Amino acid sequence: MCPPAEFDVTYSINPWMDPSEPVDPRLAYLQWQRIHDLHVELGHTVDLIEPLPGLPDMVFAANGATVHDGRVLVARFRYDERAAEAPAYLGWFTARGFETREAARINEGQGDFLAAGGWLLAGSGFRTDPRAHAEAEGYFGRPVISLTLVNESYYHLDTALSVLDEQTIMYYPAAFGLNGVCDGQHVLMPAGAPGLMAQLRDRGYDAIDIEVSELLRAGGGVKCCTLELGPARERAAGTASGVTVVVTSVASDSHTWNLVYLQLVLEELGHQVVNLGACVPDELLVTECLRIRPHLVVVSTVNGHGFHDGLRLISRIRDYAELAEMPVVIGGKLGIAGPAGQEGREQLRAAGFDVVFEEGAAITALTSMAGQLTAGVRT
Ligand code: ARG
Repeated sequence: MCPPAEFDVTYSINPWMDPSEPVDPRLAYLQWQRIHDLHVELGHTVDLIEPLPGLPDMVFAANGATVHDGRVLVARFRYDERAAEAPAYLGWFTARGFETREAARINEGQGDFLAAGGWLLAGSGFRTDPRAHAEAEGYFGRPVISLTLVNESYYHLDTALSVLDEQTIMYYPAAFGLNGVCDGQHVLMPAGAPGLMAQLRDRGYDAIDIEVSELLRAGGGVKCCTLELGPARERAAGTASGVTVVVTSVASDSHTWNLVYLQLVLEELGHQVVNLGACVPDELLVTECLRIRPHLVVVSTVNGHGFHDGLRLISRIRDYAELAEMPVVIGGKLGIAGPAGQEGREQLRAAGFDVVFEEGAAITALTSMAGQLTAGVRT
């Protein structure tokens, strides 16, 4: 990704760009930061390229190159305004030991080339030269499916189509709102398409919307800001059967080893874990659950205040209609004098926890519960 330090709309090379409308650099930064942070939280590695003065569109890193199996076809931009971005990407990849080639034909990288199921889907019509499709096919040794874009508002393929996994794409020619990026499980997408998000969730994907109004002033969105280097989708494909689990402690508990242990156990079983860590305020957990919509929340606490903290926490969570059905379990050492006991466990369950784990078999019970949730996902 490329930080939007130079982002601006100073020229117009697509119908979205109006240089007479000022952009809000602070808001653009916050929106870009959100995309960045979500990639990191979801377990992906994000590398940064330095933004260069005079290149306001460099924030749209997806256009810098196409990358497969460690081989890089570096872009050749259609418009002079962006031409100087290409050598910057060439330098970045070369310095990091990638095999690189400079495109001979006009080629706007992952704006127009998207890989799916062994194929390369390749767009043309406004930016990438159709002859660049054959060039990419030869270089990557992957068969190309050429797609012609016909509406100038959707001038790059990634504005009209996103690859979800090796067998699934989503496309919606009539809307710019697409421009999503998916690791096989999580779909990061521009805000404003609730119907599409619902469809994705119905199909078992975790759709996460991001406000990108400022970036849209340059005709860009979530995918435009993300140049995919590695096999995130292939990696995710191996674990696509897993579920998203939030692991957390309660507000008063600063112990972390128990959380790390749970994270490792759940990840080994193929689940995606977001570990919120120790001393998590109730409001933070609620906010994160509303945002991530996990399949399971595991509250682990060992300081002896879990019973009291847990009662308060679960009632805050269940206050939200959206979180009423979300499975939440609690475990660890719940009372100062030891286990909360039968009565305590019942109270916690009555307050809204689905399961209270205190016995020795807790880990086995927990992992089997996560496994059962898995079976219900993506079927
Ligand atoms: N202003 C940029 C351009 O017109 C936006 C690029 C968006 N990037 C993308 N991958 N669609 O080139």
